[in-house]
Amino acid sequence: MRNRRNIAAGLLIAVCGLLCACGEQKTEDPGKNYIGVAYYNQSDTFLNELLDSFREQLKELQGEGAETVVMVRDAAGSQRTQDDQVKELISAGCDVLCVNLVDRADPSEIIDMARENDVPIIFFNREPVAEDLMQWDGLYYVGAEAEESGAMQGELAADLIRTDSQVDRNKDGKIQYVILEGEVGHQDAIIRTETVVETLTSQGIELEKLSYQVANWNRAQAENRMEQLIGQYHNQIELVLANNDDMALGAIDAYKSLNYTESALPVFFGIDGTDAGLQAVKDSELAGTVYNDKEGQAGAMARISVALLTGEGMDEIEFQNERCVYLPYDKVTKGNVSEFLFRSR
Ligand code: GAL
Ligand code: CA
Repeated sequence: MRNRRNIAAGLLIAVCGLLCACGEQKTEDPGKNYIGVAYYNQSDTFLNELLDSFREQLKELQGEGAETVVMVRDAAGSQRTQDDQVKELISAGCDVLCVNLVDRADPSEIIDMARENDVPIIFFNREPVAEDLMQWDGLYYVGAEAEESGAMQGELAADLIRTDSQVDRNKDGKIQYVILEGEVGHQDAIIRTETVVETLTSQGIELEKLSYQVANWNRAQAENRMEQLIGQYHNQIELVLANNDDMALGAIDAYKSLNYTESALPVFFGIDGTDAGLQAVKDSELAGTVYNDKEGQAGAMARISVALLTGEGMDEIEFQNERCVYLPYDKVTKGNVSEFLFRSR
């Protein structure tokens, strides 16, 4: 890789005058390492927090004076834009890429470009199918198992329903619920929705599904969808299960803007443990969340990146299926939230 980089650096220096004049391309400094990060959308709270932690941990791992430049690109929801961005990052001289796919089913162009240029990729958060990941041995994945988060959300909700008779507000022995879902086709949305309901049912909780809405992980969209649901079901909703914290917070925003009193509110559960999500658990607005270990995921990405850059330390990383790292989730309630507030700084 180093040879490739030196040749590329030489070429880039040779044409520097031209490129700098256009102001479109960065010139690689051969003394520095470059990591290219491409992610699906900069409006995503969880991923922004994960990337902050990635930058910090990379710095810590490499120590003072490290010369690694992280170049971040936002695809704004378009796979074609992301394909172009990856191309640009490769020609700017990136040694490693971290890619959060827009469309997890469509990584072939990115994989081909990376393989042709011998630039390894750490995919993160949006998992390519195993077949794609096995196409080349320069591919890795860092994320978490969606099933675990759905099951934990279900256990948290079941615990509360069993201990607090107020949740079943109309006292009919059933819990009337709605679900706010992430993007259509995203592994975390599909699997979380499935497992949370299965878990509640297997714990003996009687459920009545009122409705579900897709809100694409987004707080403002969730507020809007929740207003529609409240308009339709009024006081009947007893439980709001959201595939992530931002959507749970959006649902709470909807009730607040309609001036609902506390006793008329359903209970809300999220997933992620974002800064705002944890704060809402602390303030008793969210009954619970499931911690999606962004520090753990960012740390694994940083360690794999450094191992790829230096050729050292890869054997200390514990992979599953040869090239994947899955970080465990954790249940968060008011009782243990301070641990997590501390962790996420
Ligand atoms: C999920 C996370 C969501 C969102 C999504 C983006 O794991 O819970 O909040 O960030 O990834 O792919
Ligand atoms: Ca009920």
